[in-house]
Amino acid sequence: MAISDANTRGSWNSKLGFILAAAGSAVGLGNIWGFPTQVASNGGAAFLFIYLICAFLIGFPVMVAEITIGRKTGRNPVGAFKALSDNKWTYALIGMWGVICGVMILSFYNVIAGWTVSYVFEEVFYFMGMQDWATYISDTDNGPINAVFSTIFMAATVSIILGGVSDGIERATKLMMPLLIGILIIMIGWVLTQEGAGVGLREYLYPDFSRVGVDLVFDAMGQAFFSLSLGMGALITYGSYLSKKENVPGAAAYVTLADTSIAFLAGLLIIPAMYMAQAQGVAIFDDSGNLLASTSLIFQVLPQLFHELGGTLGMVVGVVFFLLLSIAALTSTISLLEVPVSFAIDEFEIPRKKAAQIIGLGILAISLIISFNTSLIGIFVIIFNNIGLPLGGLLICLFLGYYWKTENALSEMENGSPGIRKTLFAKVWPAFVMVIAPLAIAYNLWTALSNLF
Ligand code: PHE
Repeated sequence: MAISDANTRGSWNSKLGFILAAAGSAVGLGNIWGFPTQVASNGGAAFLFIYLICAFLIGFPVMVAEITIGRKTGRNPVGAFKALSDNKWTYALIGMWGVICGVMILSFYNVIAGWTVSYVFEEVFYFMGMQDWATYISDTDNGPINAVFSTIFMAATVSIILGGVSDGIERATKLMMPLLIGILIIMIGWVLTQEGAGVGLREYLYPDFSRVGVDLVFDAMGQAFFSLSLGMGALITYGSYLSKKENVPGAAAYVTLADTSIAFLAGLLIIPAMYMAQAQGVAIFDDSGNLLASTSLIFQVLPQLFHELGGTLGMVVGVVFFLLLSIAALTSTISLLEVPVSFAIDEFEIPRKKAAQIIGLGILAISLIISFNTSLIGIFVIIFNNIGLPLGGLLICLFLGYYWKTENALSEMENGSPGIRKTLFAKVWPAFVMVIAPLAIAYNLWTALSNLF
């Protein structure tokens, strides 16, 4: 066990601890909510196919870059770019952009995470015949209710961060990740045996390639960055606690695989569940004939399905499903909060406890504003997810490739992977970081920005 984890920078106890924590950061609402709903509105397996290409060919090389920068410097994102550039503040801005994106993403993510908890209560109230309460608590535009649940969720996130890297984050994710996978598999097993699920399964796995276009590729890339927690330094921070004994590309491969597998599994749960809901008489298409997605899918179609099932069964399935979402969200919010907290600890020598409390409160203040103005979420998503993360990823690649140099990064990777230079990975990774990923990201950003204006 790390000694006085709360007072030192801290480190992971084991490689598995790092992988679970990083996979916990990656697996979140982006997987269980975002991915299936993107699949639902983007041509089923065609989206899945493009997504996998984005995750493995662009996301994975960027993830290796981030973890390597973190481990080399042992610093938060701002400190890391400073350390690698002889304190040049222009480069530190890349890290600062990451910290800002982390803070802003957490502020709205926390509100949505609050909804997942309020729906656990909604299911129970509905079961107990307290319809009015169920309706009241499940109104996602209800400011005071949003404020209460955002506060609860932020308190849970801060309480884990207070414990430090190994005693807080690692311990919590070691407990939550197996629970999450267990619940997911049991739920899939159950859904797939229900009426209507087969139609959903076909819709999910049968690709409609006529839907593939620039927009779909952009969505898939944005989804991959968000889902893999890339572009804002979460993995620089987690990598900074990683021992020099560990193999960085190997660990990154496990994390990418875990994240994409869980997204795939979530699709196996959600899409068939939608068609199961249809078999129960729930409307799953909107007026223009598109599958309901996003908020309506998770917080409207699925609760209706649980209500149609009725009785104890409906309540248990509903409660377990929203618990699954809450757990997934919590393992992600802790990584989002750890970024600004590690920045405060490293750069301003503020003790962890104080940093976690003050920053947690500050972000909660923004969450409370969003709680009363939920339409802000869409704007935050565009600026900080869709543009902010790919932009961060692009800058990280350019910095590593043209300033720090892939040669130096490979030398850092030799720690824990002495034979790396002889592998195919070492031969192709520099091209991905220097050319392929930056071009793909820049092209996508360009089309997104020109669509916007
Ligand atoms: N990856 C998380 C998800 O899929 C969200 C996240 C983004 C977490 C960026 C940390 C950093 O929900």
